[in-house]
Amino acid sequence: MKILITGGAGFIGSHVVRLFATKYPHYKIVNLDKLTYAGNLKNLTDVENLPNYKFIKGDICDADFIQNLFVHEQFNAVIHLAAESHVDRSISNPLEFVMTNVIGTVNLLNSSRYQFQVAETVFQKFYHVSTDEVYGSLGATGLFTETTAYDPHSPYSASKASSDHLVRAYHDTYQLPIVISNCSNNYGPFHFPEKLIPLAIHNIKNNKPIPVYGKGENIRDWLFVEDHARAIDLLFHQATSGSTYNIGGHNEWQNIEVINLLCDIMDQKLGRAVGHSRQLINFVKDRAGHDMRYAIDATKLQKELGWTPSVQFAEGLELTVDWYLNNEIWLNDVTSGGYQHYYEEQYVKR
Ligand code: NAD
Ligand code: DAU
Repeated sequence: MKILITGGAGFIGSHVVRLFATKYPHYKIVNLDKLTYAGNLKNLTDVENLPNYKFIKGDICDADFIQNLFVHEQFNAVIHLAAESHVDRSISNPLEFVMTNVIGTVNLLNSSRYQFQVAETVFQKFYHVSTDEVYGSLGATGLFTETTAYDPHSPYSASKASSDHLVRAYHDTYQLPIVISNCSNNYGPFHFPEKLIPLAIHNIKNNKPIPVYGKGENIRDWLFVEDHARAIDLLFHQATSGSTYNIGGHNEWQNIEVINLLCDIMDQKLGRAVGHSRQLINFVKDRAGHDMRYAIDATKLQKELGWTPSVQFAEGLELTVDWYLNNEIWLNDVTSGGYQHYYEEQYVKR
């Protein structure tokens, strides 16, 4: 089995690459990533020399490059995570999100279709990693299920919704074997410090203001990233073609509650006075079109495949804080931009 994993140098992708490359030594894992600002090969130093792992730098928006890669590598399956993923960036640059998340996905679908219909090797699955944001925003009650109507509000979520529709269309039109999962907010090691939790950890550590949008009342449903990777592993192997699954932790928190928790954990870890870091909280202008509440109903995944989250939030947050405090070099490298030279140093000059 040769699997193409796209976006494997990103946050979730690096956890998926690590899980598949170490758990399945008989699979060949090819990680294709453009190495945008969000791609960091230092997320994968522990697996980069495994004999069943290979990294290729490339852009999913380049249709010819993708088709040549498929012809050359003869993939049996794709796990597609490459995307522009940050909502705030999508508000200032929507087109980049359409290019990568929509056009890039169609390029991969076209080459997968070729692989499925024309090539001689067996093409087993196109696994599309998507988000709960496609469902829009909830009021005070209710949960997103797999049948909730799509209602995206940001350019990011609209581009992801569009890619989901296209993946389903390739199944219905060309019988391409596909699976889609829609997951809630992830957190954990290797999270780029532009997103709420790693940004807050970074700022608390450096005694800098923690920007909280609006009143901090928006609710997200947090899942430890390794639990997401485990769910992808299960679904990749067991979900039937054409199916969709929600993935989430039943773990809803207001943003301000998350920040308060992080401040208290950090005060304790850094030996600061109780309440010190909460003084860094800075309420700022709200995000445009800010979705109020996300909450996932993952009953289908639990009932059909027995998946449940294994890491509770208090434990996962502490683990995450410890990881960032113990991996200062990784964090400094990301904030200084040094990580962007690693490909040149380790791959091109070798
Ligand atoms: P990320 O931004 O950390 O990583 C994205 C990766 O894709 C990076 O390595 C980047 O270099 C790569 N990439 C971007 N454009 C590319 C292109 N044109 N060609 C090749 N590679 C490209 O994202 P993430 O948070 O790890 O999210 C991964 C996937 O999971 C995304 O599809 C996202 O929509 C989805 N998702 C994320 C979350 C979350 O909480 N982070 C939750 C649910 C779903
Ligand atoms: O729900 C899944 C989605 O979760 C993924 O599809 C996205 O790729 C991922 O980025 C994430 O989107 P969010 O917009 O929910 O994540 P973010 O970390 O940007 O923001 C979390 C919440 O915190 C949100 O309500 C906005 C708020 N926020 C965010 C930042 C960066 C702040 O209050 N201050 C901040 O500085």
